[in-house]
Amino acid sequence: MDRYCKRLIEVDLPIKRISAHARREKSIRHGHISTLHIWWARRPLAACRAVICAVLWPDPVDLTAWAERGDPTQDEVRTGGGAIPIRPRRFLDEARQLMTLWAQERLSKVSQESYARLVAIQKDPRWLDDPEELRRVLLDFIADFANWDNSTDKDYLDTARALTQAAHEALGGDPGTRPLVVDPFAGGGSIPLEALRVGADAFASDLNPVPVLLNKVVLEYIPKYGQRLVDEVRKWGEWIKREAEKELAAFYPKDEDGAEPIAYLWARTIQCEGPGCGAEVPLVKTTVLDSKTVGKEVRLAIGGNESGQDFKTQVLYGKSDGNGSSTVRRWSVICPLCGFTTAKKRVQFQLTQHNGGASSARLLAVVTSTPGKSGKRFRNPTQRDLDAVANAKKAVLKPEYHDILTSLSAELPNRNAHRAVGSQLPLYGLQRYEDVYLARQKLALACLASAIQRIPNTGSEFDRVIRVLMAFCLAKQADYSTTLCRWRPDGAYVNPTLGGEKKYVMVSDFAESCPLSHGSGDWLGQVDWVGRVLARESVLQDRNGQVVQASADSRVLPEDSVDAMVTDPPYYDSVPYSDLANFFYVWLRPSLQKEFPELLEPMVSPKQKEMTVDHPGNDVETANYRDGLTRAFDTGRFATKPAGIGVIVFAHKSTTGWESLLAAIIQAGWSIVASWPVDTELQNRLNARGTASLSSSVHIVCRPRENPDGSVRTDEIGDWRDVLQELPHRIHEWMPRLAEEGVVGADAIFACLGPALEIFSRYSRVEKANGETVTLKEYLEQVWAAVAKEALTIIFPNADTIGFEEDARLTAMWLWTLNAGNTDAANSESADGEEADDESYDGTKKTKITGFVLEYDAARKIAQGLGAHLEDLSSLVEVSGETARLLPVEERARHLFGKDEGHVAPNKQRKVPQLDLFTVLERADGAETTSGEARVERQGKTVLDRIHQSMILFAAGRSEALKRFLVEEGVGRDPRFWSLAQALSALYPTHTTEKRWIDGVLARKKGLGF
Ligand SMILES: C[S@@+](CC[C@H](N)C(=O)[O-])C[C@H]1O[C@@H](n2cnc3c(N)ncnc32)[C@H](O)[C@@H]1O
Ligand SMILES: [Zn+2]
Repeated sequence: MDRYCKRLIEVDLPIKRISAHARREKSIRHGHISTLHIWWARRPLAACRAVICAVLWPDPVDLTAWAERGDPTQDEVRTGGGAIPIRPRRFLDEARQLMTLWAQERLSKVSQESYARLVAIQKDPRWLDDPEELRRVLLDFIADFANWDNSTDKDYLDTARALTQAAHEALGGDPGTRPLVVDPFAGGGSIPLEALRVGADAFASDLNPVPVLLNKVVLEYIPKYGQRLVDEVRKWGEWIKREAEKELAAFYPKDEDGAEPIAYLWARTIQCEGPGCGAEVPLVKTTVLDSKTVGKEVRLAIGGNESGQDFKTQVLYGKSDGNGSSTVRRWSVICPLCGFTTAKKRVQFQLTQHNGGASSARLLAVVTSTPGKSGKRFRNPTQRDLDAVANAKKAVLKPEYHDILTSLSAELPNRNAHRAVGSQLPLYGLQRYEDVYLARQKLALACLASAIQRIPNTGSEFDRVIRVLMAFCLAKQADYSTTLCRWRPDGAYVNPTLGGEKKYVMVSDFAESCPLSHGSGDWLGQVDWVGRVLARESVLQDRNGQVVQASADSRVLPEDSVDAMVTDPPYYDSVPYSDLANFFYVWLRPSLQKEFPELLEPMVSPKQKEMTVDHPGNDVETANYRDGLTRAFDTGRFATKPAGIGVIVFAHKSTTGWESLLAAIIQAGWSIVASWPVDTELQNRLNARGTASLSSSVHIVCRPRENPDGSVRTDEIGDWRDVLQELPHRIHEWMPRLAEEGVVGADAIFACLGPALEIFSRYSRVEKANGETVTLKEYLEQVWAAVAKEALTIIFPNADTIGFEEDARLTAMWLWTLNAGNTDAANSESADGEEADDESYDGTKKTKITGFVLEYDAARKIAQGLGAHLEDLSSLVEVSGETARLLPVEERARHLFGKDEGHVAPNKQRKVPQLDLFTVLERADGAETTSGEARVERQGKTVLDRIHQSMILFAAGRSEALKRFLVEEGVGRDPRFWSLAQALSALYPTHTTEKRWIDGVLARKKGLGF
């Protein structure tokens, strides 16, 4: 018997419907908390909302069962071995009443999926006497409430909050108090925000000062000041604009006809290293300035000036004649004057001499707009523009800005940092945050910061809050004010520096926005974004949240004080938080240091205790990460009541990431009781390099493995044989459910870890017959194997999988893992043409990778589960460092037809031969027949080999040979041939050559009489 009443999330969750809402939310901006301030790896609010409701609300079925165990005359039963009294009726009655009301009066607000059930209840409320039915209605409610549009609807809010209250009191909470939800890795604040929304109290902490401030706004200031903040933010935003204008107007001179500049377009420059040339070449990547209006393009032409020794650029209107091409390609610079190409290394060297070259950049064009008129104009820079630039260089040195700008002397991440932040800027000599700005950009930001400092201050908390919000606007403004902002000709706007991206990308030509204009990336725009969030979330008024800065492993909360820990820790190496956060921190610090002297004391945000991995695969970093998470989850369990519950969200595509996380959960004394993948990414799972990209994050539900007094249970010993026996059954039950919910491929594999760990983590430890303790590592090997076997039965539902050799099983499983079958691989090439894309994170050249790539360790584990060994399959799989590549069929041609029997795929040292399929066939062909068709001399050893041979013959147009191969040589008579071919056809991604070829072979089946 379970010790405590189950929560809804322990029995069911409508993950497909929640996922749909989570995905839709990705495209919503107005009023979304993500526009208050940038933070990375944000959880969709939809998923948080649903999960928190299902965590806090009990399952009516289990609750009813508990009720029946007690004295029928009394509404009280004791759970937790007698330690905790619960009052089932408090929730059951309230939930029935509310759902009946919902059926009678709120039908117009529910989704189609929920409608029919509510109509039945409307006709006969007794339906809800069935606890199963009550469970379903509550889950429907949760699914509908996940919808963004319903998240501020008063009826939804009132109902959810009443249910949360009833649940809390039913489960033993003191009447009138609210349940406490804690998130020790609060980040952008989605989880605690939703906790408040659904009627709980929230406690949030994070190590980084930026999210601490952000959460303070959401959890402390909005609940306290509500709508008043909205009006005041707008008022002070305008005041700051007026103040800053007094100082700044002169630096952004308007045109004589009243047009105002809204952006300046610039390029870094180098000196051409061509013999005897030495011209100063602007690094122009984008020559198209406006591509929005077809046939009315605006372009930049680059040519020699009158002397022929220097460049002149010119803005031109009208359709391009194809000339005037860019001067930079993959960071090599082609001089239009002498034709010489200055190599990338030299370009980097030159820019390094100028700290990245912001100070020697050249103004190319000015974008203007006239107030009251639509459209943007582009023009050449004038002397006035150049004078303003020169003046700004002097003005920024004024002593009044000195203190504000000191923070910018903090160092940028260096080359040894995480690849996302260390791989580009240091190569071009950018060393400090100040190096990413033009003098005028620094001037504008410093001037805004100084105006923020001048907002009248009575010392009240409200005044402080206004400063915080204005500082957020400033940080947002900084995002639009660096030499890393690109001009977007497709929409004629300024692209932000980070804008939520998690890397620093070097650019050669860039756009400078004008903060005080009415254009893209201007100050009032930032104020507006912030205002909209405040307005929307004013529904949080009178809620109760608390925020502190703390590392997740420090005990800031008393023992057994928390009802639910819902948290989303860093995902292994996914995001180098502090290195990115510092971009904003260096502006928040000078603006708010007086208000938060301790929080903002250090020059940069703390990194040492950050629980992230910069270099995946590094053993020391991995161990630190795992130990850090263990301490954090242990701290969380300490604070959580014995009858409380935890949810840990995780997503990572490496087995190492997952194994570290699971080890930490178990080590910290939690038992895993359920897990739910929520698909949060827009479709398109196969990324440009053919590697798997995950689209779900898994919500791992756990309970403290504790005695009622809070001590960790150590006495339940599991029998290894029982565990091993239960494992395949659990996976067998779970996989089809996942498929039904649309979770497939690598997502499904990782989503099986939760249920698998439910079995293992039920016990304090698991022992073998000889008394030896089973390690998690050992168990996970079994889990991977069980998952792989189960997946195989899904891939080949009707075929006897045993009949296929290991290469076929591995290939099928591999493709399924990549979930490539329904993906349009050709569409997934990165659309981003930025030059930095030519560079991989580590600064090495990217070669185009063909074939299907998996993380090596995942591939190895999958293979093992199928009884195959990657090492023995070298003609099929190529291993290189951390990745394993399933070779494209084309690359197998030599092996399949070649004369050198036993030849294996090229190893690392040898370059993959760019082989011409036809040459291979020529060479491999035996005697030419009279019809010019060759006979295949050698039949592949396995069914898969023979299928690949047929595919190649098809591709080469050798239909006679194919026919002979299949009919006369009898290859097609093996039924396994066609069933495997059929399966592969479903697994190869659309638009790959493999898919075309296999379908070509299959198309001949009938005609050949099979
Ligand atoms: C995945 S993010 C949380 C995102 C959040 N759920 C949201 O929706 O925005 C993980 C957070 O953990 C924080 N973090 C990293 N190390 C930490 C530590 N030692 N203690 C507390 N927080 C830490 C990071 O600053 C980051 O904000
Ligand atoms: Zn030259």
